[in-house]
Amino acid sequence: MAARKTTVRAPKPLVAGNWKMNGLRGAKKEINALAKKLSKLDRLPCDVLICPPTPTIALLVETAKGSKVRIGGQDCHTQVSGAHTGDVSAEMLKDVGAKYVIVGHSERRADHGETNALVAQKAAAGHRAGLISIVCVGETEAERDAGKTLSVITAQLKGSLGDDFDPKNTVIAYEPVWAIGTGRTPTTAEVGQVHTHIRKRLVARFGEQGNGYRVLYGGSVKPTNAEELMAAPNVNGALVGGASLTAADFYGIISAYL
Ligand code: PGA
Repeated sequence: MAARKTTVRAPKPLVAGNWKMNGLRGAKKEINALAKKLSKLDRLPCDVLICPPTPTIALLVETAKGSKVRIGGQDCHTQVSGAHTGDVSAEMLKDVGAKYVIVGHSERRADHGETNALVAQKAAAGHRAGLISIVCVGETEAERDAGKTLSVITAQLKGSLGDDFDPKNTVIAYEPVWAIGTGRTPTTAEVGQVHTHIRKRLVARFGEQGNGYRVLYGGSVKPTNAEELMAAPNVNGALVGGASLTAADFYGIISAYL
């Protein structure tokens, strides 16, 4: 029997907002405003996600119901349940209507000492619960200055992804640590270089399927630079912190795809 050819389509971009530790219940007005703006579009050429702090997830899932906005978590524990004070499981996020979970954000790697191995386990926990896991990687300024960017990314990808991951359940986010919240970004050429490197590593590991992964850029994405950054090769969307907090700014970034 002839082998069936598997063709991998170019991935649909994802524009994801990471609210970090910002936003009380009143922030639902931003979700409403965003949903309203998106409802005016016939066709949305990208997926749209907001990851609020855990206490507001359930409320914002209700707020976003029937709209094009998806809601996700910012972190999860590796276990389903148990004696882990202060932690939240992927199943709990799924239970309240989250669709995605961010894992291995550099702030968690730095603040909570998260290793690549732990990040891989958290991403797998997301999959177990039926969530799409957004796995973050990125070099520090010292690593970039030392010319180690690509080797750092290679090691993070190797350790933070499991062999059974696939483009349907996993998104990669490249976020240079020095660009997060600083207003500084790599040039489009530098972004393209790292994203193309990530693509090659994904194809080397997952074969043709590696082309199906969405690889987001994150770090000081704003309405004013989104179009340029999103045009870099192998960039399939953005992970946005500060500029995701208001519907106006976030829509300005989504507009890069309109
Ligand atoms: P920033 O954050 O857009 O505020 O730089 C990005 C992130 O940390 O995801």
